[in-house]
Amino acid sequence: MRVFITRNIPDVGPAKLRATGWEIDQWQSDDVIPRASLLEKVHGADAVLSLLTERIDAELLDAAGPQLKVVANLAVGFDNFVVGEMTKRHVIGTNTPDVLTDTTADLAWALLMATARMLPQAQKYVHDGKWTTWGPLLFRGQDIHHATLGLIGVGRIGAAMARRASGFEMKVVYYDAYRRQDLEDKYGYHYASSVEEVLHQADFVSVHTPYMPETHHLIDADRLKLMKSTAILINSARGPIVDPKALYDALRNGTIWAAGLDVTSPEPIHMDDPLLTLDNCLIVPHIASASMKTRDNMSELAADNIINVLTHKAPKTPVNKDAVVAQGLG
Ligand code: DGY
Repeated sequence: MRVFITRNIPDVGPAKLRATGWEIDQWQSDDVIPRASLLEKVHGADAVLSLLTERIDAELLDAAGPQLKVVANLAVGFDNFVVGEMTKRHVIGTNTPDVLTDTTADLAWALLMATARMLPQAQKYVHDGKWTTWGPLLFRGQDIHHATLGLIGVGRIGAAMARRASGFEMKVVYYDAYRRQDLEDKYGYHYASSVEEVLHQADFVSVHTPYMPETHHLIDADRLKLMKSTAILINSARGPIVDPKALYDALRNGTIWAAGLDVTSPEPIHMDDPLLTLDNCLIVPHIASASMKTRDNMSELAADNIINVLTHKAPKTPVNKDAVVAQGLG
């Protein structure tokens, strides 16, 4: 068996793969593998351990060849997979759900608190030597406690965000294509009948929906106008869910108060992107799942998925069950 790993990743997974005695080839770099090298390297591979930076499409699947059985993404999101093309060729795709839920929600929560209480601006103020006295007008932010958290999407990470809100005695309002009566009954979350309703009610709006054609620019200029002028938008899902130009206008004109972004469109953000000129826009480089333990767990889960498929067992976390069935594993 031959496995190709597209980047340096925590070694837990690669070590487990090497222990099988199979041929394990890894792109030894912290940078994205150039597409031409990727197409060359996947040739003849039985499995590929990919990152969200690699598009797994017809071109790549053809370059790999018909022996390819599984592509294991080191991410819960798999918008880099062209799932239809994979399933058509009976190639199983897997992702890394669950192991990163709380770590991702922790970072989304950190963005919420940092933007609400203006931490980046306050730190810069101290570093710039501007702190001369206690000031009653200095860095007055927004209260988090007892405010309303609005969730667009209440899957695993959205629900973890809501759990964090309970410690701050917040009201939680959510919109999701699937109504979660269980969460409403158990925790008293409020269902909103539309995205618009969430935007209208919330003091903090946190986006937790997958990226797909239907969610492209879900948060656009018209929807941003529905938010309170004191409201804060948090995006730790995927950059293109928010229209960046509309967000810039909304932040600059005071339509909304601030934004905290773990993801941007494009990624990485261009250094001349106007969002980078704004004090009220906190941007970090797509690090929501980046804790030592969680990245180890993601690496191990991706490797386990590959090992299972290549030893004729069902993968732990497939994204296209039809391909699992087609390979006789489910
Ligand atoms: C994911 O898992 O989809 C994140 O965006 C990367 O951790």
